[in-house]
Amino acid sequence: MFLYGLLTIALAAIPSVLSQAIEYNAAHNVTPIIGTWSSGSKQVVTGKFANPSNLSFNYPPTTGVCFSFADNGWYEVARYRFNSNGSQPQCITGVLNWHHGQYQLLDNGSIVLIPNGDGYQQIQDPCAAESNFIENYNDTELYSHWQIFMDQNDGPKLHIFNFDGSPVSPLFQIYNPPNMLPTTQLRNVTPSIDTGSSLLAMNNAGARSWSSPADVMALLSGVFAIGVASLLL
Ligand SMILES: *[C@@H]1O[C@H](CO)[C@@H](O)[C@H](O)[C@H]1NC(C)=O
Ligand SMILES: *[C@@H]1O[C@H](CO)[C@@H](O)[C@H](O)[C@H]1NC(C)=O
Ligand SMILES: *[C@@H]1O[C@H](CO)[C@@H](O)[C@H](O)[C@H]1NC(C)=O
Ligand SMILES: *[C@@H]1O[C@H](CO)[C@@H](O)[C@H](O)[C@H]1NC(C)=O
Repeated sequence: MFLYGLLTIALAAIPSVLSQAIEYNAAHNVTPIIGTWSSGSKQVVTGKFANPSNLSFNYPPTTGVCFSFADNGWYEVARYRFNSNGSQPQCITGVLNWHHGQYQLLDNGSIVLIPNGDGYQQIQDPCAAESNFIENYNDTELYSHWQIFMDQNDGPKLHIFNFDGSPVSPLFQIYNPPNMLPTTQLRNVTPSIDTGSSLLAMNNAGARSWSSPADVMALLSGVFAIGVASLLL
């Protein structure tokens, strides 16, 4: 459970067609989904967001989310965001999340993202016992449906909806073909034991229920603290 922040609150006001099988027609999907799609100021970009070989990130100047879909069945996701906590406003959690793997466009209009196992995320939570760490991220994500419209100013605009119907920020096509890291395994990860508890854990990047200390790599970096501080200014 987490809040998505002000942008998503604003977007929640946008009417959306929910829980309805998508029609792959020109009215709703003006272009194929192949390409790189980035939200807001388009500063979060797959292909240059993460360095899997050393588990680091190239911090974008602003928060956002980016999805890439390639015609070989691979996707890549990059997310950078701050989650606020209404009951503890001083406890803003920062999340950088990266993963790639195989995507499936289901007949009922949903998208399933199946990570390759080499994804990871960095979480800073100033109020937690361990305030800044990196952990593996390998959760299968389900998106209930998607649509592509033509924006008069920005061109093709992709709307993706989370499994619960809430919208992801509108995504603008910034590259086609997509800008992605190599679509192969990019670091060695020891497979974790599947507890079977979350077959489709879905979009829980940044959730507070992160896993066992064994998965967690402590991190010595002040960059995130700076990011949170600037958000508060
Ligand atoms: C907010 O903080 C409280 C107290 O630490 C915690 O129980 C709750 O899960 C947090 N909510 C979110 C959305 O993170
Ligand atoms: C990680 O690797 C990238 C790309 O090779 C490099 O640019 C960056 O400086 C490295 N970061 C750290 C913290 O080693
Ligand atoms: C589409 O099918 C998948 C797999 O059966 C299911 O998990 C998902 O909830 C379905 N999507 C919708 C919008 O019903
Ligand atoms: C990632 O999850 C898949 C199941 O979705 C599993 O088969 C694979 O072993 C996991 N990889 C790692 C490195 O844990």
